[in-house]
Amino acid sequence: MKRGIELYSFKEIEKIRKACQIVAEVLHAVAENIKPGVTAWDIEMIAREETKKRGGKPAFLNYKPPFAQVSYPAATCVSINDEVVHGLPKKDRIIREGDLVSVDFGVIIDGYAGDSAITVAVGEIGEDEKRLMKATKMALDRAVEQAVAGNWLSRLVDTIHATAEEFGVYPILRYGGHGIGKRVHEEPFVPNNRKDLSGKDVKFRQGMVIAIEPMFSLGTEETIHDSDGWTVKTRDGSPAAHFEHTVAITKKGPMVLTEI
Ligand code: MF3
Ligand code: CO
Repeated sequence: MKRGIELYSFKEIEKIRKACQIVAEVLHAVAENIKPGVTAWDIEMIAREETKKRGGKPAFLNYKPPFAQVSYPAATCVSINDEVVHGLPKKDRIIREGDLVSVDFGVIIDGYAGDSAITVAVGEIGEDEKRLMKATKMALDRAVEQAVAGNWLSRLVDTIHATAEEFGVYPILRYGGHGIGKRVHEEPFVPNNRKDLSGKDVKFRQGMVIAIEPMFSLGTEETIHDSDGWTVKTRDGSPAAHFEHTVAITKKGPMVLTEI
């Protein structure tokens, strides 16, 4: 169904913020627990518990994203090293020193959704991995600054892509951010790679709410699907990083809703 881009009132944005605040708090709790020996499923359990405590509902659990045929069976996406996004958390996947662990998480409360992702370095990581993390985080921060009324989506995408180039890393093709609010995935699609820009640009307007989520890898733009049907990995096996914020475009400029 084509619904177009939703515009949210100040009151609605405050509701989206409520969901986003829970997301931020849960990710904070999760990050503190990411250590060698912990499993991906442990992360899933912590996220579920911390969400319940706060009266929220995990947004991804049993949710069927528009890009999938079946519902997602977990609350978190835990993507480790060469896993880029939508990593299905597994009981036998043990986190080790040197790993890059991305946790993507969403909450729904009072009918509104929030979505955010962080990448956590486990102990000492390599110099290339440090550069990758820095580039991805910087791309997110710079992209947020582009989320202003009157600006164009293509300029935000260009900022993300150019930051990857500056750091000598690769912006993953075909995956990216999205409008968000009443549903987790709304229009518009917010690519990370210039090649994914369609002919039709989008002019940002007050009241739009978007999830911006750069995903970069050390070696390639290309991905493959794992046999679990969900986990997306880099085609060359190189590590990837992912950071995401939900951002409202307001009169006062970009408002990052998933920050504590
Ligand atoms: N933040 C993820 C995204 O925007 C949400 C994944 S939904 C899931 O792609 F159902 F696949 F988990
Ligand atoms: Co998202």
